[in-house]
Amino acid sequence: MCVDGVSAGVHESLPDEFKHLPVVNCEGHLVTPGLVDLHMHAPQFAFRGLGMDLELLDWLNTRTFPEEAKYTDLDYARDAYARLIAELKNGPNARVCVFATLHLPATTLLMEMLEDSGLVSMVGKVNMDRNSPADLCEANGDESLADTRRWLQETAGRFHNTTPILTPRFIPSCSDGLMRGLAELRQEFVLPVQSHLSENPSEVQWVAELCPGTSCYGDAYRRFGLFGGDVPTIMAHCVWSDEAETALLAERGVYVAHCPQSNMNLSSGIAPVRRFLDAGVRVGLGSDMAGGCHSSIFRAMSDAVQASKLR
Ligand code: GUN
Ligand code: FE
Repeated sequence: MCVDGVSAGVHESLPDEFKHLPVVNCEGHLVTPGLVDLHMHAPQFAFRGLGMDLELLDWLNTRTFPEEAKYTDLDYARDAYARLIAELKNGPNARVCVFATLHLPATTLLMEMLEDSGLVSMVGKVNMDRNSPADLCEANGDESLADTRRWLQETAGRFHNTTPILTPRFIPSCSDGLMRGLAELRQEFVLPVQSHLSENPSEVQWVAELCPGTSCYGDAYRRFGLFGGDVPTIMAHCVWSDEAETALLAERGVYVAHCPQSNMNLSSGIAPVRRFLDAGVRVGLGSDMAGGCHSSIFRAMSDAVQASKLR
């Protein structure tokens, strides 16, 4: 029995006040809370397991971006998202933090479908206005911000279990103007933020070139006002976060989404999770579908244990 979303108690025998309720006998079963997937890409379900010979930036360009570009087509999106949601409903995850694509109609559709599913989710319309292929790139920061504002206004108050989260893809795909505008939007709408951080050495080096004068990748997000503090922030991967970036994660109260299977599949490396925990950084698990090819967070738990042993 749940009251206001909380268990009303544990009893040896059924109290009289609950005698009228149906009883399900779970003897011989393990009863667990629903699991949380802190980081996954809904539009990547269709190609999970493919392109795993590549590292991050090549995998994005040859596999991920061409697939996500298909989500201009709402029929394709509906079919693909239905398959993903069917899998999630059959699995142990009850809550998911999701990247959609940059497309406004398909993102709203995903929110409607997740709401209907009974899963609890945060969903992000992805922002990307540079270093992306022509068919998966917003024209400029202003257009990306205008679409994001329209998406927030059109979905405001429509859902019970489905809420928006600001989602700049990662620094290489977002111009400085877009990042500044997103920080303003986030203040206006009071939203959490999710993105990627220090996943792959080539990516980390690219960000250092794109953001001269920053002390680390995380510092680039911080400069734009999108890195914790009063902004609840999830950063996925953090494989190459050094001591200084770890200290910044802790200081800013940023949540790390540890995605061990993706980090192995894309040869990204093994995240320094023990260092994060010792520094007081809060860490959750993510499938990072389709960097990871399994959606279950039970699988992510076992992958995390194995990755820690290799480290
Ligand atoms: N960095 C930017 N975009 C992505 C993505 O789609 N997947 C992963 N694993 N990393 C990213
Ligand atoms: Fe990711």
